[in-house]
Amino acid sequence: MPPRRSRVGAAPGASSVGHAWAPFPRPPERPALRGPPPPRPPPPDRPPSRAPPQLLDNPDVAKAFPSDVVERARLYLDGMGGTTGCYTHSQGALVLRKEIAKGIEARDGYPCDVNTLFMTDGATPCVHSALKLLIRTKYDAILTPIPQYPLYSACIELYGGTLTPYYLNEGSGWGLDCAHLKKQLQDARERGENVRALVVINPGNPTGQCLSYENQVEIVKFCREENLVLLADEVYQTNVYRSGCVFTSFKKVVRDLGDDYKTFTLFSMMSTSKGFYGECGRRGGYMEVIGTTKKLLAEIYKVLSIGLCSNTGGQINMALVMNPPREGEPSHPLYAQERDGLLGSLGRRAHKLAAALNEMDGVTCNDPEGAMYLFPRLEHPPAVWREAGKIDRSPEFLYCMELLEQEGIVCVPGKGFGQEPGTSHFRITFLPDEKDIDEVIMRLKRFNDSFRAKYAAMGDE
Ligand SMILES: Cc1ncc(COP(=O)(O)O)c(C=O)c1O
Repeated sequence: MPPRRSRVGAAPGASSVGHAWAPFPRPPERPALRGPPPPRPPPPDRPPSRAPPQLLDNPDVAKAFPSDVVERARLYLDGMGGTTGCYTHSQGALVLRKEIAKGIEARDGYPCDVNTLFMTDGATPCVHSALKLLIRTKYDAILTPIPQYPLYSACIELYGGTLTPYYLNEGSGWGLDCAHLKKQLQDARERGENVRALVVINPGNPTGQCLSYENQVEIVKFCREENLVLLADEVYQTNVYRSGCVFTSFKKVVRDLGDDYKTFTLFSMMSTSKGFYGECGRRGGYMEVIGTTKKLLAEIYKVLSIGLCSNTGGQINMALVMNPPREGEPSHPLYAQERDGLLGSLGRRAHKLAAALNEMDGVTCNDPEGAMYLFPRLEHPPAVWREAGKIDRSPEFLYCMELLEQEGIVCVPGKGFGQEPGTSHFRITFLPDEKDIDEVIMRLKRFNDSFRAKYAAMGDE
């Protein structure tokens, strides 16, 4: 009789106890290490510093993309250790921060230190970080524009501070009036608020205004006199459509004011979400923090490092936005053509929509200057206020809901951004395709007429 196998695969004659059958020969003993191992020779066809992916070495890639695109990809890959899949420095990969610094320097004409840059997943985490740093107790207050993009009110609430409102002046194209700012600050101080910072959104959301240089100088001087940190939300910096309006960064304004302003503290925030690139889902952003101490920069770094790093794809996008193809590079003509085409189209859509709104009964709209929105004002028949009051809603809530239901157009009620008491607004974007704008205008007008007629018929009482 052949010997019984003790288990499947066991060698004939092997017992079920003791040594299992080893199907492979034992690896040879490693020699004891004496000194460092000899250096590995570099792969023959690639420079030794570069790791995979090798896609860039594929000759088809060089045929498909302009040479500067391939070079840029190589630069970023090399600077990121040969892969975009690793954690980076918590402030963002140095190679990419250097690109952003170059872009800021080209924009402003002043140096930018990479150690003052913090790359984030969109501009939203910048706002969180700044407000988290500034708010210690409920008495710490932040001067915030009304109307405002509600990220600010939400974060101030989240971190337990106080929102000190200042109203943008609709009558002067949503301008920022420093005398009013001063009054709001004084009132807040009398109420016992410790106002620590001023938020400026330029160009504005939802109001779309682009501040003049003179106004920005006034704002910086006001902050210095009143010892306020300036939080400059500049995510719409490339979205300016009105001839004569130019975006100037607050960084440039502060530096233009000279050495007296060396210690002026400014957080300026930027994003890949807006502009003509509009890559909002890719979550790229950064903040530049100037006029503060190394200790504070180290604190910000420490807090951001809790999240390890922002996503690397977003970092790459942010670097590309700030340092796009330069004149003379092979990809520049196509880049410039797409940029100018998109911005030109956005400008035409903005002006067309604003003009059409101003033609509608009960609607007035400031000229668009920048950003992606219009914030028209509505004068309603009294019954709109009455019916809205019955369901504890704003009159523009009724307007926006019925507009959505009847015409499929989505707008945001002004109340969500804040507005002067007794006024009613809504925010509309001019992002629909240019070919669809006429249809949008036709539907808006049809709705506005029917809405007003319906509520006018309900009488004044
Ligand atoms: C004024 C303003 N700041 C910040 C943000 C946040 O943008 P991000 O997508 O970069 O987080 C937005 C988004 O709409 C915005 O309008």
